Amino acid sequence: MPSPTTPFAVEINDLNHHFGRGESRKQVLYQNRLAIKPGEIVIMTGPSGSGKTTLLTLIGALRAIQEGGIKLWGTELAGLSPVEQVKMRRNIGFIFQAHNLFDALTARQNIKMAIELTDVPAAERDALADATLAALGLAERVNYKPRNLSGGQRQRVAIGRALVNRPRLILADEPTAALDKDSGANVVALLRKLADENGTTVMIVTHDNRILSVADRLVNMIDGNIVSNIRVKENAVICAILKQCTVFKDMSPSDLTDIAQKMEQEDFTPGTDIIRQGEIGDKFYVIAKGRAQIITASTTDVSRPVTLIKEGAFFGEVALLRDQPRNATVRAQESVTTYTLSKENFLAAVRAHKSFEEQLATQLFHRG
Ligand SMILES: Nc1ncnc2c1ncn2[C@@H]1O[C@H](COP(=O)(O)OP(=O)(O)OP(=O)(O)O)[C@@H](O)[C@H]1O
Ligand SMILES: [Mg+2]
Repeated sequence: MPSPTTPFAVEINDLNHHFGRGESRKQVLYQNRLAIKPGEIVIMTGPSGSGKTTLLTLIGALRAIQEGGIKLWGTELAGLSPVEQVKMRRNIGFIFQAHNLFDALTARQNIKMAIELTDVPAAERDALADATLAALGLAERVNYKPRNLSGGQRQRVAIGRALVNRPRLILADEPTAALDKDSGANVVALLRKLADENGTTVMIVTHDNRILSVADRLVNMIDGNIVSNIRVKENAVICAILKQCTVFKDMSPSDLTDIAQKMEQEDFTPGTDIIRQGEIGDKFYVIAKGRAQIITASTTDVSRPVTLIKEGAFFGEVALLRDQPRNATVRAQESVTTYTLSKENFLAAVRAHKSFEEQLATQLFHRG
C-alpha cells in the first residue's frame, strides 16, 4: 500500500461533499485541498457544522467520496472496493465521539480486541494492553467494564484502542473533550510520541485551546472551506529567513506569514542543479541554508570568478515575471536548502503585496 512516489501521508484534492438529495441536497464541503506529511500533527478547528467531522470520516474511508479525491500514502480512496476500504482502515486508528466500547468486555479485553487483528503473539497481548492502559493513567482500571468507568476513563480506553497498534494515521474527533487537564495533556503527549517515533500522522478536531501547542499544522474550517492552513514551527523559521531577504524586508509579519505558508522546503545535494539556464521557470527560490553557484554561458570563461549566493539570497523571479526561460543555472555548491513558491503563488503574492512588488521591481532594475 505505501507508495514511494509521494512524500505525503494524506493528500486531499478539490474535495466536495453533499448530503441529502433532490430539494434538500446541501453542499457541506467545497473544493478542499490539504497535504500532510508523515509524522505531522494537524489540529483542525472551526465552528459547529463547518464540516470537520464529515472531512475526517471521508479521510478515514468511512464514507464514500463523491467529488474530488483523497490519497492516503499515494493510494486514491475514491473508487476503492469495500474490501480495499477495510484494508485501508487497518492503517488508521479512530478516536471518535461515540466511542463504541464493548460493554460486556473489560478495559483490557476491549484493547485486546484491537490487538487481535495483528500478529502480536497471544502471550504478549495482555501485557501490551495493560501497558497501553497504564500509559493513559488507567493501570488500576484494567479489569473494569465500561459502565463502571467515568466518561473520561471510557474515552481513554477508546484512545488506547486506537493507539495500541501504532497505526500510520490517527483520526481523532474531540479526543480530549471529556478529559480533565492532566489526562488531556497525557493523551496529547502520547500522540506526539507516536508521531515522532513512529511517523504516525495525527489529525485532531478540537475546540480545546489547551492542546493547540502540540500541533505542527493548524487548519481552520469555516462553512465547508479550509480557510487557513499554517505550519506552525516551520512558518516561524521561514519568516525569519524571509526577513533577511531584501525583497521581503519591508513586509508586515502577517504578510510574511501569508507568503511563508505557501512555501515548500526543497533540499539539494552538492553539485545538483537547482535551476538550469534555458528551462521554463516554474518556481521562485529563497536559500535557507548553504551556498550555490550562479552559472551563465559567459561563466564558462575560466578567467571569471564564479558568483556565489548564500542564505537569504533569492532567485528565479525574472523568468516568472517576464515569462522567459531561466537566464542562468544555479548549482548547489554544498548541501542547499531552499524555500520555494510555485509560479502561481509567487504571482499571486506579487499582486497581493505592494511592498513585495516594489522591492522586486527595484531588484530587477539593478539586475537588468
Ligand atoms: N448524515 C448527514 N446527513 C445530512 N446532513 C449532515 C449529515 N452529517 C452532517 N450533516 C450536515 O453537514 C454539515 C457539516 O457537519 P459536520 O458534522 O461535518 O460538522 P462539524 O464541523 O463536525 O460540527 P461540530 O463541531 O458540531 O461537530 C452540517 O450542516 C450538518 O448538519
Ligand atoms: Mg463534528
